[in-house]
Amino acid sequence: EETLRSIAASKDLFFGAATATSRLMKDRAYADLVGRECDALVAEYEMKQRWIQSGGPDTFNFRESDWLYQFARRYDMKVRGHTLIWHIAMTDWLKQELEEKPDEQKHIVGYIEKVAGRYKGRTHSWDVANECVAPEDGGKDGMRTDSPWYKAFGETFIDTAFHAARATDPDAVLVYNDYGIEMQDGMLQGKWYGNRRRAVLDLMERLKTRNVPVDALGLQSHLRVFGAKHFDQEVLRDFLQKIVDMGYKLMVTELEIRNFPGPDDTPTRDENVAAITKAYLDVLLDFKETLGIVTWGLSSRYNWINPEWEKKPPEGYDLRNLPFDKELQKTAMWT
Ligand code: XIL
Repeated sequence: EETLRSIAASKDLFFGAATATSRLMKDRAYADLVGRECDALVAEYEMKQRWIQSGGPDTFNFRESDWLYQFARRYDMKVRGHTLIWHIAMTDWLKQELEEKPDEQKHIVGYIEKVAGRYKGRTHSWDVANECVAPEDGGKDGMRTDSPWYKAFGETFIDTAFHAARATDPDAVLVYNDYGIEMQDGMLQGKWYGNRRRAVLDLMERLKTRNVPVDALGLQSHLRVFGAKHFDQEVLRDFLQKIVDMGYKLMVTELEIRNFPGPDDTPTRDENVAAITKAYLDVLLDFKETLGIVTWGLSSRYNWINPEWEKKPPEGYDLRNLPFDKELQKTAMWT
């Protein structure tokens, strides 16, 4: 039987999904599906600093991530480490320490040695730094200048993190990961988004110039059916060409097609999702530098939806934004 995993393998790619370990632990049918369809696994939140160090600066909780690596091993899957440095999922005490007595050695190098060190040699790739550009905020060089990391150390916190990751786990693919790279300039949730590609390109160029060991650009790829025009194939292609010309590999790290109830919520929405997926992946898969594809979730039985950012779909509504629906049946996106 064909699976996304087997199809990807036949094209020398990996296919994976992000999932919460608790889902894998409790839902047998879902866990079987993940094991069958995926050859790469990502912890949805259990490998973020806010989870690992929730107990304080001197405690590291690896229970869930250890379990995830074991699960992956049982099914012969790769694990993608997500994510070492991110301004969102950090504990309050870390935020405070970064404000009061920032210490690159402790907060970046020490942390990476501990986390990446534990899974050294068993991790396909690390999302070393996540979401560092925010041209929509108007800061210097298109960077997210109001991030606690940037405020504490300036842009070179990224350099420090990549050097530490390379030194700790030399065989892992090191990824700079960001969102909205594909997106066309426009309004989204009442805010003007523009120049995200420019900002990412400039950053990747500066990192190259400074000899920072970045191997790949991760495109999160949270696409959407309604609202902002998400991408233009030719614009995206030009951008990716510039990235690979600098020597970088590519990865789709968090694909989903947001498909909220909306004005054109017709029976064809599965087809819309599938068509967007195809148009997007057609561009990405034209590049031999694309290493693999990961979806953010595998089945819409479990979805990451932040009700603060998007209106919550009605109770029982199947978002159908992923390759499998709530009943674990294939959607058109799978095809
Ligand atoms: C999200 C998870 O899905 C949520 O469960 C968690 O509470 C917050 O993070 N971009 C990323 C991911 O890089 O880490 C985010 O995951 C989704 C957006």
